[in-house]
Amino acid sequence: MTSRITKTTRAPSRPAAKQQATVKRIAVNTGGGDAPGLNAVIRSIVLCALNRGWEVIGIRDGYNGLLAPKTFKDGGLIKLTRESVRGITHLGGTILGTTNAGNPLHYPVRRPDGSYIEVDRGDELLRAFARHRFDALIAIGGDGSLSIANELSKRGLRVIGVPKTIDNDLDQTVVTFGFDTAVSFATECLDRLHSTAEAHRRILVVEVMGRYAGWIALHAGVAGTADAILIPEIPFDIRSVAAKTQERVRRGRNFSIVVVAEGAVPVGGTRSVIAKEVGHAERLGGIAETVAKQLQEITGQEARHVVLGHLLRGGSPTTSDRLLSLRFGAAAVRALDEGKSGIMVALDPPTVRYVPLAAATRRMKVVPLDCDTMKTARDLGICFGD
Ligand code: F6P
Repeated sequence: MTSRITKTTRAPSRPAAKQQATVKRIAVNTGGGDAPGLNAVIRSIVLCALNRGWEVIGIRDGYNGLLAPKTFKDGGLIKLTRESVRGITHLGGTILGTTNAGNPLHYPVRRPDGSYIEVDRGDELLRAFARHRFDALIAIGGDGSLSIANELSKRGLRVIGVPKTIDNDLDQTVVTFGFDTAVSFATECLDRLHSTAEAHRRILVVEVMGRYAGWIALHAGVAGTADAILIPEIPFDIRSVAAKTQERVRRGRNFSIVVVAEGAVPVGGTRSVIAKEVGHAERLGGIAETVAKQLQEITGQEARHVVLGHLLRGGSPTTSDRLLSLRFGAAAVRALDEGKSGIMVALDPPTVRYVPLAAATRRMKVVPLDCDTMKTARDLGICFGD
């Protein structure tokens, strides 16, 4: 796919419209990659809103239910009732659908010559919100979706953000829902891989998602007793990883488990990217295969790789993620009830607090190299390839 893009400029924003005090009819959407817990948030929002006498409408596939209503059989909007959210707390995915393509503020439109132009459809979206008489939006999403929510808020929409991502890379909240489920599953996989690695005296390299942050790799790697963990925050030297596996062999441990984050980068090298498509975030992947090949070459020991990929996004949320999701949904509705806007609900144990959307989307939360979990890993002798 061609990637030539022309950017359009938009007219200066209108000053933020004065927001009416009472809320009666709200919209909710889910954007970006799905994460276990989305349905629990939706259920919580719907019940808490209905209990206040409000109406709740779900927008399908991020904002596409409003921007491309004709592409949906039901017109892109779904009235959410007690019936529609019954029995969904424990289900993975999202009953509203989601997308990580088609940012309304940089909407890719194909031109006859095959090139793409990015169009800002933000104001059109605001008009659609007004036409449907939505008093407010609760946007459930990661950094991309919440940045869009922040811009819509600046243009006058009443918006509350709910942080979601298995990657846990959102700033201003101690954790996002979906992360615990992803880490738990990855840890279970590492447990399973230990016995087969040992039986065959192999090195097993396990690739996990996480984009540009190493949270999933670090937490699953430590909990799943990996021998080496490679994270984007620490460029790795493959010789150092090989030395670790060889040292284990000398000690009679003829197998090793290496966890590698999809965004990990070798010293002096580049990130392993599968695809870059217009309107999509770049797709990462392939680093485990490279690491396994190199380890086999250097050590002479058989090395295999496994990519956990989207398995980390599926399945039921853990109890911890369910509870967090239900708390986030309820807090988002309370925020609207209290007249708030332009904020994100955030976990600050033991409470859920409100932080400005602008602050939450300013920077990515990566693993601090001096955090306690890193210190624990180093004390345990886990190699980071440095
Ligand atoms: O942000 C969540 C995430 O699962 C990342 O860990 C991963 O890089 C990305 O989404 C994959 O997205 P998709 O395959 O859905 O385009």
